[in-house]
Amino acid sequence: MAVFGTRPEAIKMAPLVLELRKHSTLIDLCVVVTGQHREMLDQILGTFAIVPDHDLAIMRPGQSLAGITCRSLAGLDDLIASFSPGLILAQGDTTTTFAASLAAFYRRVDFGHVEAGLRSDNRWEPFPEEMNRRMTSLCATIHFAPTEGARERLLGEGTPEEDVFVTGNTVIDALKMIAERDEPLVDTGLDDWVGERRMILVTAHRRENWGAPMAGICAALREVLAEQPDTVAVFAMHKNPAVRDVVVPELGAHDRIRLIEPPDYVEFVKLMRRSYIILTDSGGVQEEAPALGKPVLVLRNTTERPEGVEAGNAVLAGTDPARVTSLAVELLRREDIWERMSRAKSPYGDGDASEKIAGVILKRYQLAG
Ligand code: UD1
Repeated sequence: MAVFGTRPEAIKMAPLVLELRKHSTLIDLCVVVTGQHREMLDQILGTFAIVPDHDLAIMRPGQSLAGITCRSLAGLDDLIASFSPGLILAQGDTTTTFAASLAAFYRRVDFGHVEAGLRSDNRWEPFPEEMNRRMTSLCATIHFAPTEGARERLLGEGTPEEDVFVTGNTVIDALKMIAERDEPLVDTGLDDWVGERRMILVTAHRRENWGAPMAGICAALREVLAEQPDTVAVFAMHKNPAVRDVVVPELGAHDRIRLIEPPDYVEFVKLMRRSYIILTDSGGVQEEAPALGKPVLVLRNTTERPEGVEAGNAVLAGTDPARVTSLAVELLRREDIWERMSRAKSPYGDGDASEKIAGVILKRYQLAG
């Protein structure tokens, strides 16, 4: 049983779902979505042509963490009781992921954690993701670590070595599947508007950035554009009203900023390729950008993804407007720094993570060879 609920989980689980389906004579796969996100999840399901077997449709406007957890847990428990899966798989650190791991534990079902072993070492940042992934690790019986560093973290916490597998991150599988469709932006209006100017792509949605930090990010962006007249910014806005309530009044009227609805994944990958630099607090974008050779300023104080920083593609910028501004302006002024940060590397895998995960499952359950 593969469980996911939000946009990033869908992107990262899609290649694995498609891979497991290749083994349908050996694996009876049941795809369950909690529907923690609605529009943003459905976009991804469409992109990868995945039709869930069950949809718990739990999303409510202004939903609370407790609400997401309770509705997911109750819905998943019923499904586990009726489907009796031998293994439940979920990805990452969202509340859907944690609920799936807890539901598996309560029913004494094996749980495979995809993207296991990431840690920021700060229980409040990202909130609640850091605690979600730690708690998920405790419930998991198989851990698919994207990097050697993540594996070491798990072993350091006492996770049995035979249960941890380094596979790379499935986001690179997804990116490769999509990047092969190398077409111009569907939104030709946006494409023309950017023209020859250098484009700064921005995303920000994290809970710890709601409110004043988000306003700080907006102030920094205005400052950067003022300093660099040949640049424009495209802000791909999350559906969450907590994001829009700040971003729209702060940036909506600026003539060199476009606020756009969440693009589908294909379009977002094109936007990343079209960008000159990326400012983001997203985990997935931090993983995708190095593979595309795009410099990233990470709008957070901590990251559980140090590999991008170590590879030289990402800088931990925080949300202080003065610091974000000076880092961005330097990157836009200094071609030598930009070039160094633009060397494509893929510290998060080669695009074969799903195949490796499927291989581990087949072997562990003696389904093949
Ligand atoms: C969730 C995850 C976060 C992940 C992010 C990716 C948790 C606690 N948070 O945060 O780890 O990085 O997804 O996007 O699991 N909404 C819509 N339509 C949508 C999606 C969201 O209207 O398609 C609105 C709803 O009003 C909802 C709100 O956004 O109440 C927040 O959604 P929620 O899933 O609670 O948190 P995210 O900030 O999206």
